[in-house]
Amino acid sequence: MAKRTRVIRVDPDAPQVAAIAIAGRAIRAGGLVAFPTETVYGLGANAFDAAAVAAIFAAKGRPAHDPLIVHIAHMDQLTQVARQIPPLAADLARRYWPGPLTLVLKKSERVPANLTAGLDTVAVRLPDHAVALALLQAAAVPIAAPSANQFSRPSPTSAQHVIDDLRERVDVVLDGGATPIGVESTILSLVDERPRVLRPGGIVVEALRASVPDLAYEPIFFAEDDNAAPAPGTMLRHYSPRARVILFSGEDDAEVYAAMRAEIARHEGVGLLACAADAAEFADLDIAVERLGANADEAARRLFAALRALDQQGMDCILARAPAKAGLGLAVWDRLLRAAVGSLVVV
Ligand code: TXA
Ligand code: MG
Repeated sequence: MAKRTRVIRVDPDAPQVAAIAIAGRAIRAGGLVAFPTETVYGLGANAFDAAAVAAIFAAKGRPAHDPLIVHIAHMDQLTQVARQIPPLAADLARRYWPGPLTLVLKKSERVPANLTAGLDTVAVRLPDHAVALALLQAAAVPIAAPSANQFSRPSPTSAQHVIDDLRERVDVVLDGGATPIGVESTILSLVDERPRVLRPGGIVVEALRASVPDLAYEPIFFAEDDNAAPAPGTMLRHYSPRARVILFSGEDDAEVYAAMRAEIARHEGVGLLACAADAAEFADLDIAVERLGANADEAARRLFAALRALDQQGMDCILARAPAKAGLGLAVWDRLLRAAVGSLVVV
């Protein structure tokens, strides 16, 4: 049933108490509230309310096998959602929370089974955004929140992206402007023999490695196949715009650019995701360009908005160079490869 979506502007640094109270009440009443975090916008509901959690899956069109992240406001709530918390989790929480690090731990009995897709583990984080924290305080319950996009689409980094995808499916949208990091949290599993990065994100792997020497990370890209359910978050098709995305990679700039020009000539409406040097290289061509900026942090901040912008201009194909896998570049590379559904041309 269509909801009457209420969009409320809030100051991202000092959110208005009245707005937060409305959103907090909506959560407590079993409703859905979209809110900014430091990474992307989340689509939130009371994590202890199985029916509200089910409504998140329905609103996003998300398959039941893909578990949600629980957001907490303070360390006391960690023991409400997780059990057998290892000392490393407490160390990492002290070091990185509030912040874009999600820890996968053994789940507590209070967390409903649909939230974790039937798994015995739960993903949890304490976000670093005044609006998210104020909402968590007002709701006084942990909040389950995936990214507030339609399933498999680019994540939302502005309230407008949320409205474009989920209009009439959410009760309240707290509009706190653009999200500062732009890619999702790093997910670190602490339930296996070795700590394992399941998704590169806002806390860069190089930094984590300094605190966790035996850290494991192997990218997994699960191609669509009806015979098996993928491990959570490994779907190859993810973050995809409507346009086809093709990535290019290679040592020699001239050869990479030549391959990109050949590809551009094959299409009607081509869009380019470009760093400054790429934009200069293709300045002679009449194609749509979305700039990703001068470094990996800027690229992370702009990536999802750029994919959405090229889609809105009706491009049938989007080209980009695969970024270097250092710092936030690793998260950008991971998102781009999934957006491209594995279409990578190595020159
Ligand atoms: O930055 C973020 O993490 C954002 C903001 C809103 O906090 N949230 C986010 O949620 O990216 P979502 O649903 O788009 O991604 C959640 C992912 C799942 O797809 C899955 O990969 C992983 O978290 N996940 C959740 N529970 C898990 C579990 N028990 N074991 C392994 N992975 C899990
Ligand atoms: Mg998501």
